[in-house]
This record gives sequence, structure tokens and C-alpha cells, in this order.
Amino acid sequence: MELINDLKNFEGKIVQLQGWVANKRTGKGLFFIILRDGTGFCQCVVDEKGVSSDDFEAAKKLTMESSCQLSGTVVKDDKQIGGFEVRVSTLSIIHIAEEFPIAKKEHGVDFLMDKRHLWLRTQRQWAIMRIRNVIIFAIHEYFQNNGFIQMDAPLFTGNAVEGTSTLFETDFYGDPAYLSQSGQLYGEAMAMAHNKIYTFGPTFRAEKSKTRRHLSEFWMIEPEMAFYDLDMNMDLIESMLKSIVNAVIKKCVFELKLVDRDVTKLEMINQKFPRLTYDEAVRILKGEQDVNGQNSIKTLENDLNEVKEKIASLQKDIDGREEKIKTAGLKQGEINFNQNKITELKNDIKELEDRADNIPAWLGSAKEFEYGNDFGGSDETVITRLFDCPIMVYNWPHEVKAFYLKRDKNNPRFAKGVDVLAPEGYGEIIGGGERETDIEQLKEKIIEHKLPMDAFEWYLDLRRYGSVKHAGFGLGLERLVAWVCKLPHVRETIPFPRMYGRLFP
Ligand code: 4AD
Ligand code: MG
Repeated sequence: MELINDLKNFEGKIVQLQGWVANKRTGKGLFFIILRDGTGFCQCVVDEKGVSSDDFEAAKKLTMESSCQLSGTVVKDDKQIGGFEVRVSTLSIIHIAEEFPIAKKEHGVDFLMDKRHLWLRTQRQWAIMRIRNVIIFAIHEYFQNNGFIQMDAPLFTGNAVEGTSTLFETDFYGDPAYLSQSGQLYGEAMAMAHNKIYTFGPTFRAEKSKTRRHLSEFWMIEPEMAFYDLDMNMDLIESMLKSIVNAVIKKCVFELKLVDRDVTKLEMINQKFPRLTYDEAVRILKGEQDVNGQNSIKTLENDLNEVKEKIASLQKDIDGREEKIKTAGLKQGEINFNQNKITELKNDIKELEDRADNIPAWLGSAKEFEYGNDFGGSDETVITRLFDCPIMVYNWPHEVKAFYLKRDKNNPRFAKGVDVLAPEGYGEIIGGGERETDIEQLKEKIIEHKLPMDAFEWYLDLRRYGSVKHAGFGLGLERLVAWVCKLPHVRETIPFPRMYGRLFP
């Protein structure tokens, strides 16, 4: 038995494949089957003259997502998906599928999410999961090649890390326990034992927000390095992201094509990442400082006008076609053609209207942003639309960041945190920084943040026994996958998303 992914090694030869019918077209005495076996997609042509009449009957019976086994000759054909075609010589049915609920027509995303267990089979979703896999492997490869030890932090925890508002509480033998919001504090302890470590595990945040960036359960990669300061941390982040994205560009040519990703945009990763202070980022957001001659506010205003013009011109197209359909004596084919076109145009308008709705909100949040606040999703979008590679924003007002970040001795208004924002409007994919080593400062912060001192005694020990400067960060896997694939929402980046309003399937 061969795999579709290996067909390149079998040109001109006979292979045996087993898989599912992703699509079937009927020609004269012919069936064109797009077979998928999980490793790839391939057109298999069943010619009445090339197979037994029983096998041709079997091909006739195949419905979408039916499973079958076939044999045939591999022919190179660049026009076909995957670059090869199989001319079938035998075919047998494994199982005839009932009517598959996901048809070719447009489905709403809620419907598709309800059918997530089946949606995963379709080309685009298949490609996203393959890219996710390559990203995961590239992350391990990067850290393992650079002297890091992978260690795992517990998922049941007794204390908050990133503030108490987003904790999922569970019952731990009668005591309250929380699902981990971050393995960082444990990572710090492990770095003091192994120098450079990283965790890679599920992370839980109880956020009742339905944004395109939020999941309740996501995967976070958290390296922590002894003897590292903020600058070394930023160097590491930059080199890691370059290495991951380059691995995807190299290994996922086919998958990136299936998700329709412009690879030249991803290649921008090889530039030096701009490093901006929080102050600079605020000026850019508010339109007080340009980026390569582009102004945040003016760009948004121009975009809004452009979108509005585009909507008007599509509407005109629709009006014209509707008028045409009314004319007497039009062929049914032409009426259908125009009706389909109108549906398509209406969908395009809907998409543009969503964009047009967002822009005023972005403009508002940019104009009204108050210095000293943390950035919200819209602020990040406004800033990162002006960049074509990730940016690093550091030196944050200490009040808006977590308790464990080191205060800048020379400028105590700031904490040595860094957020990495993905370009093209994506926003935060990494949060991290240098850790506070001063035990008195830490205690003050724990009190300020109203955290229970008891629960942090073990953490304070790390400052009592050979305390050294150290730093680390957390990379959100799904946010990274969303940007690399240019997806509108993180829900498509994980096999079975858990988020506000979704626990099934
Ligand atoms: O910025 P965050 O909250 O940082 C931490 O948890 C630190 N303790 C990490 C560290 O320094 N070791 O989260 C880190 C990243 C974010 O930048 C984002 O990519 C992702 O985790 N993230 C989420 N991804 C999906 N859904 C959510 N609800 C997320 N919350 C955070
Ligand atoms: Mg953050």
C-alpha cells in the first residue's frame, strides 16, 4: 500500500492507495475522484475502458467521503492537486458514506464548528493542521538545538500567575485548585536547576470574550533562561521566530498554497525586527510618529474610504445584473449565471462591510488611547498594520504588567517586559520579560496585586538561594499559527477549540 504523499517516488509505476473521496466529478464513461488519504490529495481517473465493469459500478456508487481502495498508474501532471494523477486499474469500496453534511456550498462558521470532527477532513483545515505540526516541530528543534531542556509545569496549580480574573477553578480533593494560566513561575524554578528550559503545554484562561484572538484552552511555549537580561531575551525571541517561520516556508510549500498565504509576506521575517519602547509604540498608535512614511490614522481613514468605494462599485454591479435578469427572453443558463454572481458579490460586500465596521472602532481606540494603559486588541491591530515583520515593544509602565517583571532601576516607571506583535494587523503573539530579582520589590508587588503571599513563598525562595538575573517569555501557539496562515480567527488553528460558548465537539 502506498501513500499519496509519496507518489513522487512512483512515477510511471503502479500504486495501491486507500482513502476517502474528497470529491467526485462524472465525465463521459469517466469518473474523476479526488482521493485523500490523510497524507495528501490526488486525482484518480476511473475510465470505463480501463477497469472491470464491477469496479466501474463501484466507482459509480462512491459518494463524497466514502472510503475505498484502488490501484493504478502514477502520471505526473502539474495541473492536478499534488502534481500527480492516478489512472485507476482496480477499485473497491470500503464503506459508502451517508450524505456528507459539509457540501461545497458556503456554510456559516458556527455550522462548521459544530461539525468540526468532519470539517478537519477538508483541504484548508488539513493544510492548517499540517502547518501547526511543522511549527510545533520547529519549536522543539530550535530549543533542543540551542541547549534547552524541555520540562513540564503542573496543570493543577494553587496560585494565579497572570492575575486572578481569568482562573478556572476546580476541586482538588476538597481544596480549590486552578487550571494553569502559565507555567512560568515553575519555569523559573526549573531554570535555576537546568539553566535553560522550556515548557510546552496546555494553558487555560477563563475569558468571557469572543474575540478572534482568545481561546479558553491554548498551547503555550515558555522558555526561561538563567543569566539572561531583557536584551538577550529579545535576541532569542527574534532568532526563534525566524527559525520557525523559515521552517514553514521551506517545508509547507503545498500547505501554504492551500491556505492561500502570500509567502513573500512571510519572507519578511528575515528582516531585523523593529524594537520599540512603549512610548514610541503609543506615538505610532496615536499618529504622532510615522512608520516608513505611513501614518496610522491617515492609513485607516484612506482604507475606510477605499472600502466604501469598493462596496459602492460592487453594489452597482449587483444592480446591473438584477436589471438584466428582468429582461425578457433571457436564457435560463444566463439567469443562473447572474444569480450566482449576485450571491457571490453579496458575500463580498458582507466581508467588506465587516471591515468597514471595524475601521471606525480602530480609529476611535487609536485616537482615544490614554498613555499608560495596556494595548487592547484594536490598538495592536492599528500599530501592526503598518509593519511587515514582527515588532517588539518593551519598557512597559509597570502598573499594567504582571507582578514578576523587573522594574527598571534607572527609570522605575517602567518594567522590563516585552510584547511581540505579529504584523499585518495580527498583534500580540508573545509576552515576556526579565524577572524581578529583588525580593522586597517582589513582595510589594504581590501585595499590590492582592495575591496571597503564602502561595508564593516557594517562588520567593528562588530569590533567597543564589538569586540570578533571568528572563523568559510565553509564545501562544495558536496566535502564531493564525498569523502564519493568515486566518481570521484562532479557532481554526487547533483541532478542537475550547472557547467562550464552545465545549463541543
Ligand atoms: O502575555 P501572556 O499572558 O504571558 C504569560 O502568560 C507569561 N507568563 C509568559 C512568560 O513570560 N512565560 O501570554 C503569553 C502568550 C500571549 O502573547 C498570547 O500569544 C498567548 O500566550 N495567549 C493566548 N492565546 C490564545 N488565547 C488566549 N486566551 C491567550 N492568552 C494568552
Ligand atoms: Mg500578554
